[in-house]
Order: sequence, then C-alpha cells, then structure tokens
Amino acid sequence: MSASKVRVFVPADTAARSLGSDQLAVALGAAEQAPIEVIRNGSRGLYWLEPLVEVEIDGIRHAYGPVTAADVAGLCKAEFWHGNDHPRYLGPTEAIPYLAQQSRLTFARVGITDPLSIDDHVAHDGFKGLHNAVSLSGAEIVAIVTESGLRGRGGAAFPTGIKWNTVLGADGEQKYIVCNADEGDSGTFADRMIMESDPYALIEGMTIAGLAVGATQGFIYIRFEYPQAIRTMREAIARARAAGYLGADVLGSGQSFELHVREAAGAYICGEETSLLESLEGKRGQIRFRPPLPAIKGLFGAPTVVNNVISLATVPIILDKGAAYYQDYGTGRSRGTLTVQLAGNIKQGGLVEIGFGRSLRELLYDFGGGSATGRPIRAVQAGGPLGAYVHASQFETPLDYEQFAAIGAMIGHGGLVVFDDNVDMAEQARFAMEFCAIESCGKCTPCRVGAVRGVEVIDKICKGENEAANLELLRDLCDTMITGSLCALGGMAPFPVLSVLNHFPEDLQARG
Ligand SMILES: Cc1cc2nc3c(=O)[nH]c(=O)nc-3n(C[C@H](O)[C@H](O)[C@H](O)COP(=O)(O)O)c2cc1C
Ligand code: SF4
Repeated sequence: MSASKVRVFVPADTAARSLGSDQLAVALGAAEQAPIEVIRNGSRGLYWLEPLVEVEIDGIRHAYGPVTAADVAGLCKAEFWHGNDHPRYLGPTEAIPYLAQQSRLTFARVGITDPLSIDDHVAHDGFKGLHNAVSLSGAEIVAIVTESGLRGRGGAAFPTGIKWNTVLGADGEQKYIVCNADEGDSGTFADRMIMESDPYALIEGMTIAGLAVGATQGFIYIRFEYPQAIRTMREAIARARAAGYLGADVLGSGQSFELHVREAAGAYICGEETSLLESLEGKRGQIRFRPPLPAIKGLFGAPTVVNNVISLATVPIILDKGAAYYQDYGTGRSRGTLTVQLAGNIKQGGLVEIGFGRSLRELLYDFGGGSATGRPIRAVQAGGPLGAYVHASQFETPLDYEQFAAIGAMIGHGGLVVFDDNVDMAEQARFAMEFCAIESCGKCTPCRVGAVRGVEVIDKICKGENEAANLELLRDLCDTMITGSLCALGGMAPFPVLSVLNHFPEDLQARG
C-alpha cells in the first residue's frame, strides 16, 4: 500500500453482500481519483446501515451508510477519504449510539479486522488466550472457565465449565470438541457473523477447549445454508495450521489439536446435540436417549464437549483477561455478555452485545428504535421458534436467564423476533405447532402426533367448533407434549402456544 492511501473498509459478510457490498467494493476500487485502499472486513452488525463504509483517519474510523455503488461518485466528489460531510456521513463509527452503548467482548474484533488475516487478528489481541492456556493444566483452564460463570449460548444455558469438567474427568483415549454451528433459531445470525468475520476466535476457543479436556480432534458442524461461513472456516483452519496454532504441536506446547468442518443438511432437529452427533456420524439426525450424556459417551462413543459457536468464541477473552473480568459483566447467575439479535419488524435490526440485565424494552426501543412499521410492538418471540411470545406488559423483564424463566420465556440463543399490533397471534400459535410437526424427528409420540393434532385443534378453535372444549383440549395437549416428549423440540413447542393462550386470548377464538 502506498503511504498516502487511506484505508477504507467495506464489509464482505453474507448480510452486507446481500445488500450490495460487493458491487460497492468494486465501484470504490474503480474510482481512480480516490487515494484509497479497499479492505474487506466483517459487518459491525448495524444492519439497517449496511452497506456501511468506514474510512480510517488518524486511527479513527468514520462511517458512511447505507451506501450503494450509485453513491460512489458523490462520495468521491465530497472527498470522503478525509471524513468530509456527505448525506450518508454518520460520524465516528464507535460514537454511533447503537455501538457506543454495547460491551463487545466476544464480538470485539468483528467488523474491525480482515477476517482471514492472522496478522490482523494478532494485532487485535487474538491468540492471547491460547498463549496463556498452553502454560496451564487442563484442570486450571476448566477452573477459569467455571469461575467466569460462562453458560452455554446455544439455548440451554448450561454452565460451560461444568460440562468441560465432566469431559476432563471421563475415561477415554480419544475425546472430541464439537462446535454446534447449526444456528437454526428464527432471527439469529450471531454464529454466522463470528464464523465469517472472526473465524480465528472460534478456532482459538475450540483449541483451548481441546487443551482443557484432553481432546485432540474437533469438528465444526455448519448448516449448508451458510456457504460463506463454511468457506471462511476452512480457509482459516488451513492458515491457522500453517502458522502453528493448530496441528501436531500447538504453539510448541507438544499438545496436538486438529479441526475439521462438516457441512450439515440444515434440519432444525440436527441443532439438538444428540441428533447433531448422529448426523456427524453419518446417520439420520434423530435424538439419542439420555443418559449417557454426550460428555461421557458422545461422538463415536467418546467423551465429547458440544458447545455453541458463541460459547466457544467467548473462551479466548476469558483466558486472556481472566475470569473476574468476564464475571464483572452481567447480573445474578447470568454472567458476562449476551449477544442479542434484533430481527423481524424492527427499525434498527442487528447485533447487540451487552452485559446481562438490561430490559427487553431497552433492547427494543433504545437499540431497536421501535418497530420498522412505526406501529406499537405487540409481541416479541424470544429464544427461537420454541420460545414464548412475550407480551408488551412484560417488556420491563431484564435479560437474565432466571428472570425470563420466571415469566415462562427463554433467552435461548438471544434471538428476538418483533411483531407489531397487526400480528395475528392465533396464526403464530398455529405456526409453533406446524413447525414442530414439520421438524419433528418422529422418535416419540407426544411430539410426532401431538404437533399434528395441535394444528388441527387450533384450526377448530378458529372455526368456532366446540370452542371452549377445544381450548381446554389444547392446554391438555400442551401439557402432554411438555411432560411426555423425549427432547426439547416437542417439549417446548407448546410454550409459544401457551403464551398466546395466556397473554393474547382475544386472538385465539372463533373468527367472525
Ligand atoms: C430442537 C433443538 C434445536 C437446537 N438447535 C441448536 C442450534 O442450532 N445451535 C446450538 O448451538 N444449540 C442448539 N440447541 C441446543 C443444543 O442441544 C445444545 O444444548 C448446545 O449445542 C450446547 O452448547 P452450549 O452449552 O454452548 O449452549 C438445540 C436444542 C434443541 C432441543
Ligand atoms: S420430541 Fe420430537 S424431535 Fe424430540 S425426540 Fe420426540 S419426536 Fe423427536
């Protein structure tokens, strides 16, 4: 790069590309009068502003967005490389309130670095956690992760350190680390962002997990709908191996760790860890009976850690800055930061990483800016398709696993899908049952048959057939599915339905 060239960042993740960032990068590259060097980074996660272009001046990035290829001539006329004013100018990126109010720990490098550049990663504190980990024993690493209070971000919020400790203590010549990158929940994209925009964070987290429990092999299970994440992870693994961060002798420690990517067929049930393991073994994705836990008898019958992408990508900062640093964020038993994904009918959709404890209302209005339609927000589905619909009267609830459970809701993977007052909640209740019927693995009756009956009963209620009796039957059916299903798909699909019965009863009745 010539010394006089200004660095201009144009995101190259799937979301920004779908909004035209590739064409924009080409147009900027072709602007010969512009003394700029175009670098492809990841998105900052302010999706309503994508494609977001950043210009680096004296080490500070200035944002312009949303920008299309058609804006390039005007930007060049304004000499945007000096950070000059323009209708699309947003000021210094870090000062945009949506970003300024966040605590980016897991996502610290996302949108900052060139995703595949190891040098860039290292220049931004990458691999520091791994450097610390190689000098510790497995038990010491597990103790730090336990003390940090990190809980699984895939859905169940199980303490990560306790899971690792079980695998550490399990007998087995071969142990595995499996990363769950199936990301099937509605409105979620955080895993994809990590893999496309900071793949080394995941590689580092998985390698630390391997050192901690004594596993020498790891698999990343990514749904096929994420082709760019698959490509990026494969390339990053090859580069990390060549640079000595993976392979037979991780950072000269004498310990080995290898990573492989496996492309998944994209079935919702294959996000459940035991189905995922079946699928990884080349079998049909069906639930396994528990016990034994995967931590004792997991992939190919060996002790296995199964963790979500965010859980694993959070481990490096904990090993770098210490358990107390991470613990300091959060509230109650929900420690650290939560990555919320704002989706659906929301004005400012995107990724928000904040300490646990902020209210749902703050997320929806302070960050989200209210609904995209400008109408009142009536309901939010939190935690994916099996999560309850949260009523507007519950929006003061703090984002905290226990406080959400107390209102019959869940945080899950942090997805929030927003609906305005035009939503038909009977349709949403029906969708929950229909989704379960379509995605059921078929192994147990309450789910396989119950979900189909659930759709039928809701249809009858809406048609006014024996309304009171069918409403009672619907509750009874929900109860049967919750108590009788083998896994959380059938066991939780009733929760959105019950939330409609309890909080939106005016919608679930005979249509005129
Ligand atoms: C039906 C169903 C789908 C799931 N889908 C996912 C998924 O897409 N990604 C994920 O990380 N966890 C998913 N889970 C949770 C996993 O079973 C498991 O708890 C998780 O991968 C463990 O990692 P964690 O402790 O880091 O959260 C799903 C669970 C169920 C019941
Ligand atoms: S609840 Fe549904 S998905 Fe889970 S084991 Fe039973 S049939 Fe399969």
